[in-house]
Amino acid sequence: MRFKKIFNSIAFRISVTIAVVVAASAVAVGWLILREERKTLEFELRSKGRYIAEIMSHHVVEPLLYEERHEIFSLLQGSMKSEESLVVYAEVYDKNGELIVKAFKNEKFNKLKMPPYNFKDPIDGVDIQEDSKLPVYYLSLPINIETSGTIGFLRLGITKEFLYSTLEGVKRKFYLLGAAVIFVGIMLGLWMARKVLRPILILNKGVRRVGEGELGIEVPVVGEGEIKELALSFNRMSVKLKELIHSIQSAQEHLVRTEKLYAVGEFSAGVAHEIKNPLTSIKMLMQTAKQKKEPLSNMDISIIEGEINRINHIVKQFLAFARPEKAEKTDVNINNVLEEVITVTRPKMKQSTIKLDQKFLSREPIIKGNHDALKQVFLNIILNAIQAMDGREGTLSIETSTNNGNLSVVIKDTGGGIPKKDLKKIFNPFFTTKKDGTGMGLALTYKTINEHSGKIKIDSKPWIGTTVKVDFPL
Ligand SMILES: Nc1ncnc2c1ncn2[C@@H]1O[C@H](COP(=O)(O)OP(=O)(O)OP(=O)(O)O)[C@@H](O)[C@H]1O
Ligand SMILES: [Mg+2]
Repeated sequence: MRFKKIFNSIAFRISVTIAVVVAASAVAVGWLILREERKTLEFELRSKGRYIAEIMSHHVVEPLLYEERHEIFSLLQGSMKSEESLVVYAEVYDKNGELIVKAFKNEKFNKLKMPPYNFKDPIDGVDIQEDSKLPVYYLSLPINIETSGTIGFLRLGITKEFLYSTLEGVKRKFYLLGAAVIFVGIMLGLWMARKVLRPILILNKGVRRVGEGELGIEVPVVGEGEIKELALSFNRMSVKLKELIHSIQSAQEHLVRTEKLYAVGEFSAGVAHEIKNPLTSIKMLMQTAKQKKEPLSNMDISIIEGEINRINHIVKQFLAFARPEKAEKTDVNINNVLEEVITVTRPKMKQSTIKLDQKFLSREPIIKGNHDALKQVFLNIILNAIQAMDGREGTLSIETSTNNGNLSVVIKDTGGGIPKKDLKKIFNPFFTTKKDGTGMGLALTYKTINEHSGKIKIDSKPWIGTTVKVDFPL
């Protein structure tokens, strides 16, 4: 992991690139130098060989004229005596190309085989040939005297070993120098990468800190040109960001306060409005009685009683909605809760000729919750469904099922449905389309389901019906 990070770092890549470039240049330059050096050395060796061959041919003239083979042999041998002598093999031929004398430096060179040479029509001067396998030059030249022309031939083998050993020495020096250059290159690359990247690394750290929420921090401005510009821009951005976040936060706080005030205002207005209607009718009945100077009739009293009940109901609903969550939760069997609600609402269903289609889980669906609050939830939903089918024949289906670790209760009616424009308002407190409705049913339902970590979803098609799906985590 750590190595991968190093390999991927720009500093590493830059220094490796510089090292590779330096190494490649060193190899190319070295190769060129060695090639030139070799050419020069070869040229020198050939000239030297040519010179030796010419001198030796002069020395051989006399003994060759008098056919003193022994003398020729000692001459040839003399030329190879010293350790440094270039000549390692020598042959002398007569003018017809017949070998007269042959000498060699040591046994190793006895096996040398001279390449073919045209004795009949020799080229003027020294002819130089190379051995395809051995490090040897073959030099051949006719031995001429002014009076009678060619009297024989001298052929020499010259070793290239000195050339190779000199080249080896040059190579060795070159390797040492190359290694030093590459090392310096890598060091230089690392140093440059560090120098170039340091400001970027500092910036990178700064960006990370801002990302972690340290708004308003500033990085030290190092480097030159674009990098310096970048650091300055980063610092400006960081400060601006801090200011911006602060202003957004305070705007949000203000908004939340305003929203809360607005909600309280709307809610109070709703409560006041709901209470005003029954109060007005009570006041009217009492004023009429007062004007007529008559006591309240029995009918008036029962109307007033109804209106007071209504106020009581509204206040109860309001308190239930405004009350903080009740912590008391036990194991609740949802099938039982639904059965209780059905028992209470069955007379109303009979009244409206509503058919009940009931599909309950055979395994008891138990959730953690508040029995009374959950009963109120399903009572609200089922009452809404019955009211939606009021006065008409219809079917109410109630189904419980489990899926994905959830318990689902689906309540479906074939009532008038909810118009699309109302669908997003039905959970608002006091939203009602009914003459006697408070509009608190679904608002309370939503709140209670939320307190049970559940979800409610309502789908509705006008004139077809409404489906309410409630999910609780099991
Ligand atoms: N199953 C349903 N079919 C058609 N409309 C529905 C259904 N359920 C709710 N609504 C619509 O949503 C509105 C709000 O419902 P909610 O239960 O909150 O109040 P309400 O039923 O009007 O009054 P309350 O519950 O106090 O009697 C209803 O007035 C009605 O217009
Ligand atoms: Mg309702």
